[in-house]
Amino acid sequence: MITRCRIGKLARGAIFSTMLLAGTWSSDAIAQDVISFTEDVFPVIELRCLECHQPGGPGYEKSGLDLRSYKGLMKGTKHGPIVVPGSAFTSNLIAVIDGRTDPSLRMPHNRKRMSKCERLLLRFWVSQGARDN
Ligand code: HEC
Repeated sequence: MITRCRIGKLARGAIFSTMLLAGTWSSDAIAQDVISFTEDVFPVIELRCLECHQPGGPGYEKSGLDLRSYKGLMKGTKHGPIVVPGSAFTSNLIAVIDGRTDPSLRMPHNRKRMSKCERLLLRFWVSQGARDN
């Protein structure tokens, strides 16, 4: 069993999260394993995105993106979907966390960049079809 960056369960924002990369995960191991929305992806979103992307938060109010659920994530912003199942490179979700967009749109907005492990989890989940699993 590989160690994933389970910050959602382990630390909830504590300093601890920086220690997780010392685990045994590798990008190959993540790529070959099935990534779960509920177990892997949502805890990262909850920790890194939810404070702004729910009603009343600046991200939701400005873009319309509601990250409280799978449904909200797949619905996307007021301009349309941000996830293209099976195609991480063309998914805006991955572009904003990898910093491939205009700096003003990098996410988490004005916060520390996500760890590589967190970004890979989201990327491989999209590549694997962005399922509600
Ligand atoms: C501190 C608040 C904040 C956090 C945390 C945050 N966002 Fe945002 N987000 C915003 C704001 C504000 C906008 C609107 C930006 C704009 O249109 O200028 C936005 C817009 C977006 C957009 C739309 C970009 C576009 O192309 O218009 C996406 C996608 C997005 N956020 C994803 C995320 C993800 C994924 C996370 C977690 C990794 C996240 N955000 C965390 C504030 C936040």
